Amino acid sequence: MTAAVLTETVAPGVAQITMNRPERKNALDRASYVGLIEAFAAADADPQIRAILVTGSGGCFTSGNDIRDFAASGSDGARIAMDFLTSISTAAKPVVAAVEGFAVGIGTTMLLHCDLAFAGAGATFRMPFVALGLSPEGASSYLLPLIAGSKRAAELLMLAEAFGPQAALEAGLLNAVVAEGTALAAALDKAKALAALPPQSVALTKLLLKRGQAASVAETIATEAQHFGERLRSEEAQAAFAAFLKR
Ligand code: COA
Repeated sequence: MTAAVLTETVAPGVAQITMNRPERKNALDRASYVGLIEAFAAADADPQIRAILVTGSGGCFTSGNDIRDFAASGSDGARIAMDFLTSISTAAKPVVAAVEGFAVGIGTTMLLHCDLAFAGAGATFRMPFVALGLSPEGASSYLLPLIAGSKRAAELLMLAEAFGPQAALEAGLLNAVVAEGTALAAALDKAKALAALPPQSVALTKLLLKRGQAASVAETIATEAQHFGERLRSEEAQAAFAAFLKR
């Protein structure tokens, strides 16, 4: 069986973590989350690694949480996703995202926790929580109004519509939109640049940049998780999952 998450050192000091279920648009099932949590912990602990690159295989970032897992889960069904969000939001080393194709749900919200993010011109983003009868996760209800403004955040989270890379850039989710197919190269470039800088200074700068929000981010992830767990079992959500799986 192919691993749901791949890790390799792609340049000196740069670990690339790849979500790898291309036949499911890299939907994140339990094994994917376990793989991601382990890969981030290993990269963060490895003294040889100075920057972490996160991407998806097959020209897609990720279609978000596996809806089969959501449909089958109880109120703790999102626990592992929240554990991953906590791990990416507290990584000490710089995290750079390379997005091509779809970045749905947690595929979009995890970008709020990456230090840098690049997307190809063909990328599509969506936080479909409301359309699925769910509620925001990943501290998006806190961080998105902060970086995008309250009107934009309400538009993206409440209407739950898909949006393109230019809108993602304007909302503060990206550093740059690059030509389709070149997001990984752009992200690798910056990851290499980060890896070449004094690591303690980079880590301290990241810590200082996140310090003011860290407690609120952790508190919001936990509060959102409680609501999200309840929503997973709601009739609204179960009907939405059934509709997706019946397509
Ligand atoms: N969970 C489970 N399976 C998923 C999935 C998900 N999040 N996203 C895609 N898949 C599966 C599809 O069911 C399909 O399986 P099949 O080949 O057995 O029919 C396969 O992956 C390919 O996806 P498909 O929908 O055919 O690709 P597409 O390019 O037409 O559309 C998306 C891609 C991402 C727009 C669409 O798959 C989608 O909306 N997925 C759900 C996203 C979502 O709501 N995630 C939860 C966020 S909280």
